[in-house]
Amino acid sequence: MSENPTLSPERQDPPDAVGETLLSVEGLTKHFPIYGGFPFKRKVGAVQAVDGVDLTVRAGESIGLVGESGCGKSTTGRLITRLMQPTSGRITYAGQDITRANRRQLAPIRSEIQMIFQDPYSSLNPRQTVGTIIKSPMEVNGINPPGGREKRVRELLETVGLNPEHYNRFPHEFSGGQRQRIGVARALALEPKLIVADEPVSALDVSIQAQVVNLLQKVREELGIAFLFIAHDLAIVRHFSQRVAVMYLGKVVEIGDRDSIYNRPRHPYTHALLSAVPEVELAEETEGRERIRLAGDVPSPVNPPSGCRFRTRCWKAQDKCATQEPPLVRIGGNREGHLTACHFPEEPTIAARDEDVVLDPALAALEEATDTH
Ligand SMILES: Nc1ncnc2c1ncn2[C@@H]1O[C@H](COP(=O)(O)OP(=O)(O)OP(=O)(O)O)[C@@H](O)[C@H]1O
Ligand code: SF4
Ligand SMILES: [Mg+2]
Repeated sequence: MSENPTLSPERQDPPDAVGETLLSVEGLTKHFPIYGGFPFKRKVGAVQAVDGVDLTVRAGESIGLVGESGCGKSTTGRLITRLMQPTSGRITYAGQDITRANRRQLAPIRSEIQMIFQDPYSSLNPRQTVGTIIKSPMEVNGINPPGGREKRVRELLETVGLNPEHYNRFPHEFSGGQRQRIGVARALALEPKLIVADEPVSALDVSIQAQVVNLLQKVREELGIAFLFIAHDLAIVRHFSQRVAVMYLGKVVEIGDRDSIYNRPRHPYTHALLSAVPEVELAEETEGRERIRLAGDVPSPVNPPSGCRFRTRCWKAQDKCATQEPPLVRIGGNREGHLTACHFPEEPTIAARDEDVVLDPALAALEEATDTH
């Protein structure tokens, strides 16, 4: 993203059109059972993909969800859109508990919560024309806009920056960025109030990413749609989201407004993630910022570490971290709404350290050995 000047962090904040709580999840959990044994298969364990997530999304706001691969971001998105049934917890949308809502009860809500997927090609049916793809959610939901569905599809194509004359073309006739625009048009067809965008630009060329992010920004501002924006890339989330939630191994470890998370992070994992963002993206306020190399893999969600799940990679871990799970709370020095799950949080600064912190002792040993040769 760094090549594109339109994504500079100095950009003005979007107007604060944030309203009432639209969606809230409490203790959201998804455990995927693992079966084994012979001759009778039985449950031998579970992938704890999402394990007690609390989150709110207000009308019109964008909240970014970040974290390493496998930490449960997509699963969280799928639970919220009810593409998956949670193991436990509660999902409330517009004041209504939809955790166990059946198909019929979900029908009116389905149109209000839409999803945009990472891979714009596999999420579009290659045998359908663009017109059919964008029109079908309206057909399924029996929506007849004034002037007819085709007229509405043409308007949507225009909204997302595509030529309305391309109504009868097929997905393969479009570039990756254009296909993602088709995905956005399809999501907009039902006039949603919330869009869960799961890595919507990470499959696109860097040069195209900014264009699609800017389109989503425009949609958010002009149509007042709330976003849960899932991404690996903290630079994109900084640009797009007013609030940011950091996930690690199925849990939210830190959440707060953008400024708090990027400039005054408290959780060691947030520090580590931020230190991996290229300097250019974070502008001058982060000059001389600490460098932390978050090496090694995330532990298995089948058997996560006791206490704090980050402790096996944390340079501040102490005995307490292995026995007591840190609650997600506002700690001293945090602004309102900035919550951190850590017993020994970092200072609210991202100032330089004397030397790199290497989180993987094996890697550190290897580097030392290499240096001495
Ligand atoms: N249907 C499933 N059955 C079993 N395990 C699953 C299933 N879907 C996801 N998982 C596991 O749940 C964990 C969380 O996966 P998820 O896809 O939510 O992570 P993610 O944060 O979106 O990762 P990525 O950044 O790679 O997209 C992973 O360990 C994954 O292997
Ligand atoms: S609770 Fe302990 S292990 Fe977990 S992040 Fe804080 S200091 Fe590190
Ligand atoms: Mg994912």
